[in-house]
Amino acid sequence: MNMYDLIVKKKRGGELSRDEIEWMIRSYTDGDIPDYQMSAMMMAICFVGMTDEETKDLTLAMAHSGDMLDLSAIHGIKVDKHSTGGVGDKTSLVLAPLVASLGVPVAKMSGRGLGHTGGTIDKLESFRGFTTSLTEKQFIRNVNEIHIAIAGQTANLAPADKKLYALRDVTGTVDQMSLIASSIMSKKLASGADGIVLDVKTGDGAFMKSLDDARALAKEMVSIGKLAGKDVSAVISDMDQPLGYAVGNALEVKEAIDTLRGQGPEDLKELVLTLGSLMVVKAGAAEDTEQAGKMLEDSLNSGKAFDVFKAFIQAQGGDPEQADHPDLLTSAGYQAEVPAPTSGYVCNIHTEEIGRICLLLGGGREKKDSCIDLSVGLVLHKKKGNSVQAGEALATIHANDMQKLKEAERRLQAAFELAGEKPAPEPLIKDIIF
Ligand code: URA
Repeated sequence: MNMYDLIVKKKRGGELSRDEIEWMIRSYTDGDIPDYQMSAMMMAICFVGMTDEETKDLTLAMAHSGDMLDLSAIHGIKVDKHSTGGVGDKTSLVLAPLVASLGVPVAKMSGRGLGHTGGTIDKLESFRGFTTSLTEKQFIRNVNEIHIAIAGQTANLAPADKKLYALRDVTGTVDQMSLIASSIMSKKLASGADGIVLDVKTGDGAFMKSLDDARALAKEMVSIGKLAGKDVSAVISDMDQPLGYAVGNALEVKEAIDTLRGQGPEDLKELVLTLGSLMVVKAGAAEDTEQAGKMLEDSLNSGKAFDVFKAFIQAQGGDPEQADHPDLLTSAGYQAEVPAPTSGYVCNIHTEEIGRICLLLGGGREKKDSCIDLSVGLVLHKKKGNSVQAGEALATIHANDMQKLKEAERRLQAAFELAGEKPAPEPLIKDIIF
């Protein structure tokens, strides 16, 4: 087989066989296919698509490209969660310790930022010393001892996805349904959790812009998971505006800490409770989602979840003092408010553009080896449906570079659409696929 022929076959609308997909993934993982050929294949897939059969074969080939974690040494039913990627999506930072605070084993694999969306690992690295490079033994020990561990993709867990993820991030090939489904599900299958809850985002800030596409992606991932014997469900949630108010790594960590202390934004709390209830029921720790929701709210209000968060930060090498005093987290040198040009109601927020402004400020990667600035980003003051007076602040930008700050100000003002009429509220949770 040769990669040139496969690229041309896909470009012309052909269907790749299981053998061809397995060969391509094996050869790419081994370094025998160069990035430029794989980039061409990814782009061809973006234009031509993949059948359900190809998507399943790609997922399984990627899952088996490295080790399959054996978590049988963890007591109980292990649960994990994964988001398809959003702007201001700090859900896992709150959700994972909250679910773990009920004694449910949370064995979570997380990723870095992708395209205009942020990643949990980058955010957690805002804590001095924090690492997600855990050995299998440390990972299992932490889950058994404190019910929570969050690991990055170790070199040998779905290594094909690790390479492809970094390649797609910088070649404009992220937002394709089969590539997202196979990327997420390959990691989830390789990482050994029994129950998986997926947060499939839809809207301007998501990779799936329409609800129909989000539903199709959710169904595809749930069906791949079930085929592999996992208990999977997917929540479809709104990404037509950032989740919460903060966008940017350390800024989001601060908002997550506020939420764990019972002072977070309502939308983030609602999403965390919805996803968390499903995880708790999957783990057999509650009879139904209503009971699970009450247990989770109690744990949030009592401070138990925040205690678990601090224990988790410490167990993975971070400084828990920074959780108690978030002002000790890294912060940017300049701050500037962006005023509303006119009075009115916020009727639309160009959410992908908000993510891109964060990238411009240095909060994400432009090249595979770019270093990101954890301190930069923005904090919204107004969300959809809020009224605003001319000159009032729509958002505050946090930057370390004056020139970038100026460009961000201009783009951020244009990212808000104001109107005379208050828009009808949109539900955060659009659907749940079982
Ligand atoms: N998250 C992933 O892990 N992969 C994707 O492709 C998108 C979101």
